[in-house]
Amino acid sequence: MKDLILKEILQEYDDLREKEREALRQRENHIMETIPDIADIRRTVVELMARRSLDIIKNPDISTQTVDELEKKISELKEKERELLSRHGFPEDYLSMRYHCAKCNDTGYTGDIVKEKCSCLIQKLLERTYQLSDIKELDRENFDTFDPEVFPDSPAEGSRLTQREYMIQLKNRLMDYVSQFPDNRRKTILFSGKTGLGKTFLLNCMAKKILDAGYTVMRISAYKLFNQLFLSALQDNEQNQFLFNCLFEVDVLIIDDLGTETQRNNYTSEDLFNILNERFTQGKHTFLSTNLGLTELKERYSDRIASRLFDTSNTMLIKFFGQDIRVRVRN
Ligand SMILES: Nc1ncnc2c1ncn2[C@@H]1O[C@H](COP(=O)(O)OP(=O)(O)OP(=O)(O)O)[C@@H](O)[C@H]1O
Ligand SMILES: [Mg+2]
Repeated sequence: MKDLILKEILQEYDDLREKEREALRQRENHIMETIPDIADIRRTVVELMARRSLDIIKNPDISTQTVDELEKKISELKEKERELLSRHGFPEDYLSMRYHCAKCNDTGYTGDIVKEKCSCLIQKLLERTYQLSDIKELDRENFDTFDPEVFPDSPAEGSRLTQREYMIQLKNRLMDYVSQFPDNRRKTILFSGKTGLGKTFLLNCMAKKILDAGYTVMRISAYKLFNQLFLSALQDNEQNQFLFNCLFEVDVLIIDDLGTETQRNNYTSEDLFNILNERFTQGKHTFLSTNLGLTELKERYSDRIASRLFDTSNTMLIKFFGQDIRVRVRN
């Protein structure tokens, strides 16, 4: 998945450099016509450079003094070219290639021997992955904006902690989890609980942290996912292929609101099983949320799914309880 995105971005760098090369050619043509002195200088520079190369080939023992003299001449001519440009009202770098990133010259990589991704490439990779993930929501819902005050501080049924205390503990536990990512023992997380308890919010917090660490994350609602899978069974096109690649290759797949999808005989169960199973086999992370209780989940999906999902050696089952904070009056 990252490879696909990377390939696409590197192609854009190529296109960008080609566009700039063409723009430079046009600027050069324009200058050659309007400032003949510069055309002369350019010709002389080319001749001098050719002579320098030839001299070195013909006579490997050529004195460094001769080479230095030639180079001095070349740089004097270049200086003269810049002066001429300036005198005619053009910027001094008018005949230089323009790069959008001075660090990597729009190649995406820095370093001569050991190539490393330039920060501009890393940024693009992140943005592109965010696109899969609807970036705006993650600006609003992340660990920094997590507000414990939205949860009632009254004792929750069946727990010694208040809803607020419980959510603070849960937040800390999940922060630990993402700080250890991807080396987590359990790679599936299932949030189960009624509506308005902060499940999606916490999934977003985790998504943002993991994305910021440079991994790929895809967030999708079960409704959208299974609709898309149903449609893709009807037509095999590039977009559907991309969805499939993403489902299996992203570092983290987040399926929100499991149970809200349209049920179409056994298709949903089969698709879900294949996704969970394949990702489990590849050791990849999958986070899910659902309003359904465990018994309802078992009833709705196949036994195979239930045993995959409830296998506590690979799944962290997290229950949400308390008051719906969407309707709560602050206390
Ligand atoms: N920790 C938090 N800090 C600030 N706002 C929060 C927090 N948790 C949830 N909210 C806000 O409360 C509302 C409900 O939360 P959320 O959507 O996460 O609930 P949910 O459990 O996913 O509900 P549903 O099951 O209906 O999808 C949202 O508007 C969300 O932004
Ligand atoms: Mg939700």
